[in-house]
Amino acid sequence: MDITTHYFDTVVIGSGLAGCRAAIESVNYGTVAVLSKLYPTRSHSTAAQGGIGAALGNEEEDNPEWHTYDTVKGSDFLGDQDAIEIMCYDAIPTIIELEHMGVPFSRTPEGKIAQRRFGGHTRDFGAAPVRRACYSADRTGHAVLFALYEQCQLKGVKFFQEFQVLDIVIENNKVQGVIALNIKNGSIHVFEAKAVIVASGGYGKLFKVTSNAYATTGECLSILFRQGIPLEDMEFFQFHPTGLYGLGILITEGARGEGGVLINGKGERFMERYAPTIKDLAPRDMVSRAILTEIREGRGINGKEYVYLDLRHIDKKILQERLPEITTFCKIYMGIDPSESPIPVVPTAHYAMGGIPTDNDGRVLRDVDGSVVEGLYAAGECACVSVHGANRLGCNSLLDTVVFGRRAGKAVGSVLKSIERGKVKKERIKINIDCIEMIRNNKGKETVASIRKKLQSSMMDKCSVFRTEEGLKELLEEIKILKERYKELTISDKSQIFNTELLEAVELGHMLTLSEVIALSALQRTESRGAHYREDYPERDDENWLKHTFAFLTEKDIEFKYKPVRITRFKLEERKY
Ligand code: FUM
Repeated sequence: MDITTHYFDTVVIGSGLAGCRAAIESVNYGTVAVLSKLYPTRSHSTAAQGGIGAALGNEEEDNPEWHTYDTVKGSDFLGDQDAIEIMCYDAIPTIIELEHMGVPFSRTPEGKIAQRRFGGHTRDFGAAPVRRACYSADRTGHAVLFALYEQCQLKGVKFFQEFQVLDIVIENNKVQGVIALNIKNGSIHVFEAKAVIVASGGYGKLFKVTSNAYATTGECLSILFRQGIPLEDMEFFQFHPTGLYGLGILITEGARGEGGVLINGKGERFMERYAPTIKDLAPRDMVSRAILTEIREGRGINGKEYVYLDLRHIDKKILQERLPEITTFCKIYMGIDPSESPIPVVPTAHYAMGGIPTDNDGRVLRDVDGSVVEGLYAAGECACVSVHGANRLGCNSLLDTVVFGRRAGKAVGSVLKSIERGKVKKERIKINIDCIEMIRNNKGKETVASIRKKLQSSMMDKCSVFRTEEGLKELLEEIKILKERYKELTISDKSQIFNTELLEAVELGHMLTLSEVIALSALQRTESRGAHYREDYPERDDENWLKHTFAFLTEKDIEFKYKPVRITRFKLEERKY
């Protein structure tokens, strides 16, 4: 087997916003390699549409204190308030820095960065929606990613594109490096490093209907979990209210920020009943539940399983200038022009609030008491700082990626001189090669597609917007069966070159692991909070559940510990909008 070893100070896994921002920072202190299973500018960050939050106050009065409050309340009080404060106050210099790096933000007539309304973002502690999302039409993630990628190139970051990570090696509580497969020719590459920053994104592909790209399968979380690193708050998975019906493709919240409204089968603006103050701009968990409640109660469009997002009253010029991408999506995928016809929408799996637990500087935690793994960092959607708690506000994810990507990169810089480069043992490389060869040569009767399809539909049916004990237990039984079926997997492509079937088989194993963690975490939490809604426990239960879930893989089973939420400024309140 052809094995190449590379030596870097820092290895970043993932080339989305968090990965690129972390790389830009850490390359100030030493050599940096970014590994991506995609071509870097195809990372899923590029699909982020509507905006990046910062209380610039360019279009109306705003301040970071209100942003902090909104984020705490949006998180259903599960977000750690010190981390949220860091993010919301850092948002302003972060946007200016992005502007200076070359991000082509949309502009106000006076030439300032333009800002639009977004769900849950308000002025004056909930009084009314505020324009806080800075945007670049409805291609904000795309615009930011290209600027960051260019900065990485300028600063000499080395990219290894189309490299699939197989293993993140931790020994003696120190990260040693990364083992990856070069998708182009099947060769194995070992990256020995002082520090590793995991910025591998989310895992929306666990669900049948999702706004997420094919690559969002979450293997890096599972790789760490299998080595004893806990996963935090995995029960909280966000459904974006407006996915294109039947496809799940994102229709940005910016569409409602520009004045779009949701309409049920009776022609009613039903959000007026669920969130009388901010209506269609309520947080996503509330809007998604409202849409599905309307559908369940027979008020979908013509009794069908969708509602309408109506943009017909918005000036065509605004649609063209500010929402060109979603206008095109509607034309291409649904054959409708949103200036003339309402858009059929339904919630779509969108964002993982949970993930690899970190402190405010991206250091990966190995327990609830705050102990860390030397040299191991995480940032972006794969990480749980936790700034989003039980429900993320729209336009806070791009912000999270750049704020905490930079902090992780800086934190790495502060320790590089004092830590040794890791060493990846031959035996560890062999285990990974054997594992790949076992999948390649297994002669079972199961296919990746059939197991994955069943997993995705079970997760969608039993672990999405509404959950019950019965459904979650059934789901866990189904996952158990799927894990047995996975052992009988066979792949038809035995080749070394661009063997995507092999890689999908590897990903599927990790998807099964993560699904089990999510379902079990959801089963434990006998309350409803943010995106985790238990029909059998419909109330928030602060007395028993104002705490973060930490799931651990032990020799016997998955076990749970809990960690208090850090509350610094804002007291608990009922979450009304
Ligand atoms: O609706 C959107 O444009 C999505 C933004 C986000 O998830 O922050």
